[in-house]
Amino acid sequence: MPMCAPTCRPPRAPSRLRLEQLLALTLLLFCCAWAQAKSYTIGFAQSDTAESDWRKANTESFREAAKELGIVLAFKDAGGKTDVQRRQVQEFIEQKVDAIVLSANEVHGWDSVLLQAKKAKIPVVLSDRTLVLLPENQSKGLFVTWIGSDFRYEGRAAGAWLAQETAGRCNIVEIQGPPDAAPSIERGKGFRDVMSLFPGMKIIASKPGMWRADQAKDVMKKFLKDEGTNICAVFAHNDNMAFGVVDAIEENKQLGLKPGKDILIVGVDGVKRGFELLVEKKINALVECNPLLGKIVLKVAIEVLGGRSFPPTMYMEDKVFTTHNAAAALPSRKY
Ligand code: AHR
Repeated sequence: MPMCAPTCRPPRAPSRLRLEQLLALTLLLFCCAWAQAKSYTIGFAQSDTAESDWRKANTESFREAAKELGIVLAFKDAGGKTDVQRRQVQEFIEQKVDAIVLSANEVHGWDSVLLQAKKAKIPVVLSDRTLVLLPENQSKGLFVTWIGSDFRYEGRAAGAWLAQETAGRCNIVEIQGPPDAAPSIERGKGFRDVMSLFPGMKIIASKPGMWRADQAKDVMKKFLKDEGTNICAVFAHNDNMAFGVVDAIEENKQLGLKPGKDILIVGVDGVKRGFELLVEKKINALVECNPLLGKIVLKVAIEVLGGRSFPPTMYMEDKVFTTHNAAAALPSRKY
């Protein structure tokens, strides 16, 4: 029996009925919260997992986050084909998923399917890739928000590093992603923003390597054949293409050039293998682009389903890594 001053009464035990009601209510609330989180099915339309280390890490981050958050992830991979990806989004709508996450292979061609999603009241969250909608659809709220890296900043950061390293004098070859993909467009613009400030820096050739090491290797072989020792640097729009560039330079015994020494190489992404090549000084600089978007994007989608709204754009923070800080950073890299 607890101690009690003369004026106070011992605490009243809840009546049996109130206790049962309380328990039932707690159970109900718990079940509702569990059922709500558990029953969400979110469709993730990925562009092309096989293309690069970045995208493999990106897909994996969605799978892990879905498990952790207790949601069902309906996953479809377009294999780098926009028409396939459009159909897959349509299938998600027919399947009546609760929300759709889209990492668009290319920026154009999404109006009609996003209008359908809106009509079906299925919220769409854009992950990493931005879109270009027709002017008449731009204010219709066809997607809730976009979460990813600032691709234009990445291009500028690559250009600024190169301008500093070469004191503003360099003949550059550029290996791009697919022409209609958001990162290719924006990284290209950002890089040119900086180039335009330095009359001694010239982009002497540009070609797509489609995010892939093997295709970039072929492009670089051709550049070496056409331009040879006239090339001062390569701007590769992603790490995997930078790997292909390293291979092409090393395999060209005729020119006998060394990647990272005779030809500077700047990439974008900052995957583990990229860091290893930075440490080996075969690549000179990498602009980070964080692929670990799964948890934040899926959490946002869940919140949206709970009625919350978000700003139209949300940026990830990215850094620049060079041969000077790569070794220290490598052990803690997560992708
Ligand atoms: O959208 C991010 C870009 O897409 C990454 O740089 C690239 O590796 C991927 O394909």
